[in-house]
Amino acid sequence: MYQVKIAPSILAGDYAKMGDTVRLLGENGADMVHCDVMDGNFVPPITFGAQMVKSIRPYTNLSLDCHLMVANPEKQIELFAAAGADVISVHVEACSGALLKTMKRIRELGVKAAAVVNPATAIEEIFPAVEFADMLLVMSVVPGWGGQKFIPESLKKIETLREFCLKNGKGELDIEVDGGINEGNVKSVISAGANVIVAGSAVFRSENMAETIARLRGV
Ligand code: DX5
Ligand code: ZN
Repeated sequence: MYQVKIAPSILAGDYAKMGDTVRLLGENGADMVHCDVMDGNFVPPITFGAQMVKSIRPYTNLSLDCHLMVANPEKQIELFAAAGADVISVHVEACSGALLKTMKRIRELGVKAAAVVNPATAIEEIFPAVEFADMLLVMSVVPGWGGQKFIPESLKKIETLREFCLKNGKGELDIEVDGGINEGNVKSVISAGANVIVAGSAVFRSENMAETIARLRGV
């Protein structure tokens, strides 16, 4: 029904050579590059900003999928658009009521817009974004760190969201899931209705990146 896309997260990559890391992902069959942006405010760690996206842009033609785990994301979107982001995802919890305005602005800049919902947030919070979204992101771990355990309650949220999209004429919308996904649980995530799979540790800890990416996609 949906094309399954694998978006390895460079959170787990080597920051000293991120260009090569991103090129490697493309050579090993990744569909997108998931860029986990953290500001030390919305989440405790700090990773990188738009400058990193600008630097890695020339190393890949894959879609740069920028997950903004930042406070006041509306202040960042022009910078990420200029840096070459293909998708910008903003958290419901960080937009304090301006989620739709922020998503519309992302689209005005020619970038795909996505809304993100945290594990503790009810999935209904993201429903208003469906109309203006190119993708929806359901967090299956508490944002901030890679290598965490998948939160099983996420499956029900994914099902409910996919059902809502289907009922509202947006059945083809990409639903991305981020956190704790590996070969052991990816099938349940996809059958729940997700089709874009973020994987950091599972890909970067793998002995054979290409094989792991293919297995996550289910081929
Ligand atoms: C959390 C990050 C992680 C990361 C995936 O803020 O968004 O979910 O991308 O990490 P793994 O695949 O190692 O759980
Ligand atoms: Zn992420």
